[in-house]
Amino acid sequence: MKNIVILISGAGSNMAAIVRTAERDRWRERLGARVAAVVSNKADAQGLALARAEGIATAVVPHGDFASREDFDAALVQTIDAHEPALVVLAGFMRILTPGFVARYAGRLINVHPSLLPAFPGLHTHRRAIEAGCKVAGLTVHHVTVDLDHGPILAQAAVPVMADDTEASLARRVLAHEHRVYPRAIADWLAETN
Ligand code: GAR
Repeated sequence: MKNIVILISGAGSNMAAIVRTAERDRWRERLGARVAAVVSNKADAQGLALARAEGIATAVVPHGDFASREDFDAALVQTIDAHEPALVVLAGFMRILTPGFVARYAGRLINVHPSLLPAFPGLHTHRRAIEAGCKVAGLTVHHVTVDLDHGPILAQAAVPVMADDTEASLARRVLAHEHRVYPRAIADWLAETN
């Protein structure tokens, strides 16, 4: 069985979409894969309750408890590795990871970013896209490398920017597409990986 460990920091709507898709599309039977655990750096991440309700193991590794990024990542690795992951999925996980962490999961660590990378890496992507006058925004699913938001691209989707869009309305529209594209990209990765 390929175990998937999902890392979240907040609402966890992408995590929920992945869990729902895994059930609907019978990933256990078809892909030999399951969501084994959801891990958060925040105890109050709303997504944790949802994961628990689905019967998925959850864990919290509060970044504030650690003196350095290295210490935090070491604790995170320990928590993740307890679930023997084939794939580690970042889903709104808002921490910068150390090179050691990234190297440990090289090739099996993926992220969704709410822009058409390489445009707008980092934070406030929707505001920056609107300010730049973009007519098209979007999302990118990519491998995580040490270069923030720059790893090899697995999937992308373009989303129109409307004339009256606000940061919030554009974020909502892009997020709805993330919920469709991210689970599909994960299923493709699982199907291609032995
Ligand atoms: C998503 O839009 C995701 O792309 C973004 O945070 C949101 C999390 O929503 N991630 C990043 O900006 C990472 N750089 P969710 O918690 O409801 O899945």
